[in-house]
Amino acid sequence: MSNQQYQFQYRMHTHWNELSPQDVMLIKEAFNAMDKAYAPYSRFKVGASVLLETGEVICGSNQENIAFPSGLCAERVALNYVGANFPGITIDTLAVVAQGELMPEEHLLSPCGGCRQVMLESENRQSTPIRVILVNQDQRTMIIETVKDLLPFGFGK
Ligand code: THU
Repeated sequence: MSNQQYQFQYRMHTHWNELSPQDVMLIKEAFNAMDKAYAPYSRFKVGASVLLETGEVICGSNQENIAFPSGLCAERVALNYVGANFPGITIDTLAVVAQGELMPEEHLLSPCGGCRQVMLESENRQSTPIRVILVNQDQRTMIIETVKDLLPFGFGK
């Protein structure tokens, strides 16, 4: 028997406006997407933006349904759109923002387990890691260098 430890490093910024112009642009796109969320049931709006290697930005927002499990998270809307319409194009960065009373403002925004699995599949489809930017409701921003850090021992190759 041996005890093992899993560690990962991430960067924390007090505000997303400290980031590079490209990251700031991507985060603003995620905020625009968030405004288009359809979240009448949870009133928790999420926006996701994906920067492709081509420079194109693809956005998604959570789309809820009165039959609850039929709704979809913002990350999955965006990533599945990329998978369907840009197969073979590498994803550089995914940014996620959210707003709503479901979470206290200081609570760290953290994608749900199902979205992490979808993010991992997207990463495994390409040869380079996907950077993930998570913007908290109080504007603190976390940068994670690979999806694998968000889903230790994730199911997949
Ligand atoms: N939601 C997302 O869009 N992304 C996540 O990672 C977690 C949750 C959405 C789903 C639902 O519409 C609302 O947030 C509340 O759970």
